[in-house]
Amino acid sequence: MELDALLLPMTIQDAEDTVRAASGPLLGWYRENARDLPWRREPTPYRVWISEVMLQQTRVEAVKPYYQRFLEALPDLPALAAAEEQTLLKLWEGLGYYSRARNLQKAARQAMERYGGVLPASYEELLSLAGFGEYTAGAVASIAFGIRVPAVDGNVLRVFSRLLAAEGDIMSPAVRKGFRQLLLKAMPETAPGDFNQAVMELGATLCGPNGLPQCERCPLKYLCRGYAGGNPAAYPVKAPKKSRRVEERTVFVLTCPEGVLLRLRPPGLLGGLWEFPSVDGALTPEEQLVWLQERGIVPQAVSPLRNAKHIFTHIEWQMTGVLVRCRELSPGPEEALARWEELEQRYPLPSAFRAFRRALDQCRKGWYQNG
Ligand code: ADE
Repeated sequence: MELDALLLPMTIQDAEDTVRAASGPLLGWYRENARDLPWRREPTPYRVWISEVMLQQTRVEAVKPYYQRFLEALPDLPALAAAEEQTLLKLWEGLGYYSRARNLQKAARQAMERYGGVLPASYEELLSLAGFGEYTAGAVASIAFGIRVPAVDGNVLRVFSRLLAAEGDIMSPAVRKGFRQLLLKAMPETAPGDFNQAVMELGATLCGPNGLPQCERCPLKYLCRGYAGGNPAAYPVKAPKKSRRVEERTVFVLTCPEGVLLRLRPPGLLGGLWEFPSVDGALTPEEQLVWLQERGIVPQAVSPLRNAKHIFTHIEWQMTGVLVRCRELSPGPEEALARWEELEQRYPLPSAFRAFRRALDQCRKGWYQNG
């Protein structure tokens, strides 16, 4: 069960009671301290939606001018649906992740077709629109429609991890789900939008991610297990990002007048794609000659290529490249002699080998020049 993933130092019942006890002070504090933000003045579904998507890109202060400009140019959902793509992208320029802007328009068009040009007042239906994940659907449903659903972002995870001294890793989907479940049960019946925004606001101001939280001013101080334990900044628990494993490889670019020798990669990383034959480790020039000899390759010339690096998600290849010219080459099993003219069309090479591909173009020119 997801709630177990939270690793709470209390029963689920106690955690629910704590969240329930927190909602009164939290709402009181929010009503006193809420920042005056443009999208809060008139929280229509359209305005809340645009602001929430922009707020996923950057900080509140940076969003303000973008938001004003966007709303002036595209004041409602039909205007967004009908906008020229270039207009839309221009309004988004600088915010990054252009797919979010494109999804805004896609969702607006879906809403034109399915809901007569308005956003639907239903969490599930919102979730079905382009670009709406649990967070955005939860934020729009609760803030604009008063539907009782959580909107779990980084601020919410931090505030509740501290409040409950939860040891679960907030990067884990099970932990996020667990917080969502807990809030679904224990968030207040009334003012769900204010409740969600109050938690975000607390997380953006007093209970921030950097430096020490300002517990002395926090309305939840007396309920907070993190504060009681003396080290609230120890929460939320985040597993450190796994560092990339560095692998050294030697890449042989084996050429002859007809073309270049390629090998099919075994299943796994880049499995089933073609590569220049490569081996583990950074071989010395002597070791490179031994490797060629063992394969019956008789080189005419061997010259080093510039070293190259390629970064995958979990692995970094540091590659030593070697250009080998031979009079002839005969491919073995899982290998092919790619003729120069078919290299581009028939043998797409993974971008990890791009640096060596360039060297090959030079080499090909050399072959032609030298006959
Ligand atoms: N961050 C993202 N959405 C927010 C909101 N509605 N209020 C405060 N901070 C936020």
